[in-house]
Amino acid sequence: MTTSVKAVLSSRPDGQPKESDFKFVEEELAELEEGQVLLKVEHLSIDAFIRTMLDGPQGLHGTMDLDVPVMALGVGRVVDSRSEELNQGDAVFGPMGAQTHVIYPANMLRKLDETDVPARTYLGALGMTTGLTAYAGMICCGKVEEGDTVVVSAAAGAVGVMACQLAKMAGARVIGIAGGDEKCEFLKSEIGCDDAVDYKSGDLNEKLKAACPDGINVFFDNVGGAVLNAALDNIAKCARVVICGAISQYNDMEHVTGPSLYLRIPERNASMIGFTVDHYADQFEKMEQEITAGIKDGRIKVPEHIEEGIESFPGALIKLMTGGHMGKLLVAP
Ligand SMILES: NC(=O)c1ccc[n+]([C@@H]2O[C@H](COP(=O)([O-])OP(=O)(O)OC[C@H]3O[C@@H](n4cnc5c(N)ncnc54)[C@H](OP(=O)(O)O)[C@@H]3O)[C@@H](O)[C@H]2O)c1
Repeated sequence: MTTSVKAVLSSRPDGQPKESDFKFVEEELAELEEGQVLLKVEHLSIDAFIRTMLDGPQGLHGTMDLDVPVMALGVGRVVDSRSEELNQGDAVFGPMGAQTHVIYPANMLRKLDETDVPARTYLGALGMTTGLTAYAGMICCGKVEEGDTVVVSAAAGAVGVMACQLAKMAGARVIGIAGGDEKCEFLKSEIGCDDAVDYKSGDLNEKLKAACPDGINVFFDNVGGAVLNAALDNIAKCARVVICGAISQYNDMEHVTGPSLYLRIPERNASMIGFTVDHYADQFEKMEQEITAGIKDGRIKVPEHIEEGIESFPGALIKLMTGGHMGKLLVAP
């Protein structure tokens, strides 16, 4: 018998999630049935959609029930198998949920190739909600070109560092927006940004004007609200504004603040496009190949912030919303 420890939602958060919105339960897992595998969950991806799914029926990405493991994508290792598709020791990707162990039908899981990268990279640089999202937004929607001036918000986060690096690989001049000196320094020294601006000190609009004197050609937005407005005021003629997400809004989805400066779009013959990564699923294989090549030859760095233990799951989600990490935020349960 294997015991799994699960992080479950005990009450729906009102605004910023709190540790007390979650509790931990232990469960004895059943014997494996034909076609099933027992997994030790190795890493969980801490994603913004988890926050929006904690809300009631109006949740942006759907809603999750109380008293069941919180929905989370993850990678796991097969510890026991009654399937011919997977063997003990195989690494797999799937909707693991916030728990230490789980039983799944093997056919619901993707077997991972660990030749070039460790399994957890399939949550980060090669992850659908991270590297592939950055690719869909920057390359497919933003159509970044050599010589473009590109600005990325929440640039020091998981999607942000990938978006910055993909834009650099395309030959753009890249400016990251992030909270605080440490993150701005990290963007310039580690991620290769040409400049970085701290939205938490001073006037962001003025800082963007100084950093982008000829205007912004591509704005990749992870934040929304006031940050989006400041960027809109600085777009160049024919700019592409890519709405990847709006994390500044997710704690209060009933009162989303839209950009009052949206008339800069017609004024400057610009366009604004939003996307969900799954819309580009037919390009995932190509995206993975290009990103893997970039990792192997050193053009793409894969910064990670890993919190240990399933008990760290609620705190990690709070960290995602408040910015206490750089790069991909993971929990190793
Ligand atoms: N379109 C899609 O298909 C898709 C798929 C996956 C993710 N996304 C979106 O991608 C975005 C980034 O997700 P991620 O997983 O990579 O998270 P992340 O960037 O690693 O973490 C979120 C960051 O947002 C910043 N932030 C939080 N509240 C903010 C506020 N009020 N104003 C400004 N910045 C704030 C924090 O950084 P600072 O310290 O710099 O404030 C924090 O580190 C999210 O909006 C998410 O919804 C979209």
